[in-house]
Amino acid sequence: MADSLEFIGISKEFGNVKALQDVTFSIKKGEFFSLLGPSGCGKTSLLRIVAGFERPTQGKILLDGQDITHIPPHQRPVNTVFQNYALFPHLNIWENIAFGLRVAKRSQKEIDFEVDRMLHLIQLKELAYKMPDQISGGQKQRVAIARALINKPRVLLLDEPLAALDLKLRQKMLLELDLIHDEVGITFLFITHDQTEAMAVSDRIAVLRQGSLEQIGTPIELYEAPKSSFVAAFIGDTNFLDGHVAEKVSHDYSLLTLDNFPNVLCFNDKQLNVGDLVHLSVRPEKMHISREQSPHHPRHNQVPGVVEDVVYKGAHTNFWVRVEGHRIAVTQQHRRFLLDEHPIRWNDKVWIWWHADDGFILERYNPQVSIEKQGE
Ligand SMILES: Nc1ncnc2c1ncn2[C@@H]1O[C@H](COP(=O)(O)OP(=O)(O)O)[C@@H](O)[C@H]1O
Ligand SMILES: [Mg+2]
Repeated sequence: MADSLEFIGISKEFGNVKALQDVTFSIKKGEFFSLLGPSGCGKTSLLRIVAGFERPTQGKILLDGQDITHIPPHQRPVNTVFQNYALFPHLNIWENIAFGLRVAKRSQKEIDFEVDRMLHLIQLKELAYKMPDQISGGQKQRVAIARALINKPRVLLLDEPLAALDLKLRQKMLLELDLIHDEVGITFLFITHDQTEAMAVSDRIAVLRQGSLEQIGTPIELYEAPKSSFVAAFIGDTNFLDGHVAEKVSHDYSLLTLDNFPNVLCFNDKQLNVGDLVHLSVRPEKMHISREQSPHHPRHNQVPGVVEDVVYKGAHTNFWVRVEGHRIAVTQQHRRFLLDEHPIRWNDKVWIWWHADDGFILERYNPQVSIEKQGE
């Protein structure tokens, strides 16, 4: 598929703040693409550069192959939806949606047709003649989206459009956004600091960190094969263990020595050498937990531990298990009727195990990541 937007070496400085540093990537036509990262990482700055509200300090930006870096905002075929819907309070819903076409001096017939099409798209026909202060937050946001789409922009920019809504409504609106995207088929560039939002709707996600691109991938690629500890920690939860490569047992597998741990077998696709410092990451749901030892399997890692904390969540339980001085998070899905299963409790002696292919080796973890994640 052809590229819709191309960012080429974009940097942006505000005085001595480096908001963006040499950002290069492209978005395909029709993609639902998200920019994800902690607040202050440069998401809004990048979006404002696309909209034309900011000029990059360096680099250029192409839309359908055309350099738009110096084109004024109102001449760019893009529209933005902001967090605070910014509807005109004195105009009813119908007129709010029609606004862009009135400014463009379109015929009344065309305006009637297009507004009707938009009201149908956002399913608010029955509220067309209400005023903005008579409708709910979620409805206002739908009107804002319709208003931004009516001019048929080639790219819709969405800057944390759901942040002002409560959790349930946010989830519902996210699904609607996805449906609207399918319907109109244009490129969506969606900004969020919430990884669950980005994971739920995106074709691909770019993770930004302190103004630099950290990784681009599909939600599955980012979760299952993060390239850095930052991405592994920012997208989902994981266990990190420090150690070094002790022995290469085959082309693809190595034994790792971790702090106080017996040797651990790991898939070594990065071809690290004996003695290299590593950082092993294993997601909690990839770990198994049981009171009994599991039968020996050549590629399972199995260690004994004691349950320190149990949080029952209905569909699953989160355990924290003390293993040789480490606190390991384990998630257990409940596929059977739990009352018959003698659930594992606090202080139980247990075994945890995981398959060698389910851990991945990364560079050393930087504790700053969890601070950035908490700072939301
Ligand atoms: N107009 C501005 N003047 C000065 N600094 C700014 C301006 N806009 C953004 N910044 C700074 O640039 C960095 C990135 O900001 P922003 O793009 O808003 O991040 P995000 O949207 O990811 O929260 C932050 O350090 C922010 O303080
Ligand atoms: Mg922002």
